[in-house]
Amino acid sequence: MEPVSQSDAPLLRAERSLLQALYGRGHLSGNAGTVLCEMASERIVVRQAAPADTSAMLEITRNVWEGSDYVPFVWDKWLADGSGHLTVAIRAGIVCGLMHVEIQSDGTAWAEGIRVREDLQSRGIGSGLLTEGISWARQAGSRRMRLSTYGANPSSNRLAENAGFLEVERMRSLAVEPASVTASDGYTLALPADIDDVWDVVSGHRGVPALYSEGWTAYTLDRRRLALLLADHSVLMSKAGPSKGMAIATSRPVRPVLRFGYLSGHKEDVVGLVKTLLARAASAHMTRVSAVLRLEPDVADILESLGFRNPDAAEMIVYALDLEARPAKERLSGR
Ligand SMILES: CC(C)(COP(=O)(O)OP(=O)(O)OC[C@H]1O[C@@H](n2cnc3c(N)ncnc32)[C@H](O)[C@@H]1OP(=O)(O)O)[C@@H](O)C(=O)NCCC(=O)NCCS
Repeated sequence: MEPVSQSDAPLLRAERSLLQALYGRGHLSGNAGTVLCEMASERIVVRQAAPADTSAMLEITRNVWEGSDYVPFVWDKWLADGSGHLTVAIRAGIVCGLMHVEIQSDGTAWAEGIRVREDLQSRGIGSGLLTEGISWARQAGSRRMRLSTYGANPSSNRLAENAGFLEVERMRSLAVEPASVTASDGYTLALPADIDDVWDVVSGHRGVPALYSEGWTAYTLDRRRLALLLADHSVLMSKAGPSKGMAIATSRPVRPVLRFGYLSGHKEDVVGLVKTLLARAASAHMTRVSAVLRLEPDVADILESLGFRNPDAAEMIVYALDLEARPAKERLSGR
């Protein structure tokens, strides 16, 4: 068995069944013909996305992050996923923006993939999409919404702050091309039966559920999520026990990238875990190993000594919005 998940399908299936149990399939689905929100000033309509919007999505995302946007890779999955919420903004009959929201297994609504056509940015279209997504998440019964931004992207940070989101986490993003390193044999795949030991380590570190990352998506690392990760073979630990070191690493079938999202242990354990995962990534023909982590300086030094680089000092900022707090407008009007 590989300690590195080659497919997120089992995890997604497990999560989907939890979602269906929580909310019921169909309840969250929209209808591509329904107008969800209209912004009077610009005559912008937000509606559910449809397969016919794919060419507009490709056009909007073409130059994002120098052409390396992930949205085209996940678009079909988002379209097909009836438990999420994929919307587009329309101006003068033309699709000019998009956004996706999904409900994670702890009930958090995760907003992602917010994009606005370059020539129409800074006119409030992104805010309109986000406002509509917030209202959908509230109706779906979610108590909290989160999103992440690239720290050096002022417009997305501003967008989140304007909508009332607060920064809750900041993680560094590093990456390396996997090279042939010698894996230590001191590390093994953690299994579902290890959940008590692994949970003791995770919960002992912070006392409250921590966040971990899968690429640029953050999840609450609660016991239920941990069970999904263990079932999906995404947790590597020291053979001497998780308290001697553990890591979470995931991948998606659409991209040959291994993503580190959690790392704990003393220096020698961290070195052993990272080397083992680099060796696994190389043998699985992954083209990149990325790490989006809350890093202590000594762990950052270890990753850098193993070739990880963060050339733009890239940081992922996680923002959260309490959906149970009454919106400001309601509070003012006393409703
Ligand atoms: C981020 C993005 C979705 C925002 O959409 P938008 O329609 O431009 O957003 P809005 O107009 O509603 O709000 C943008 C806010 O950022 C501000 N802003 C834009 N550029 C800015 C800059 N360089 N510095 C500071 N603020 C900036 C705008 O003035 C506006 O704030 P205001 O309403 O208080 O004036 C859009 O810029 C985009 O698609 N960017 C490329 C993809 C991307 O980076 N997505 C986010 C990934 S985290």
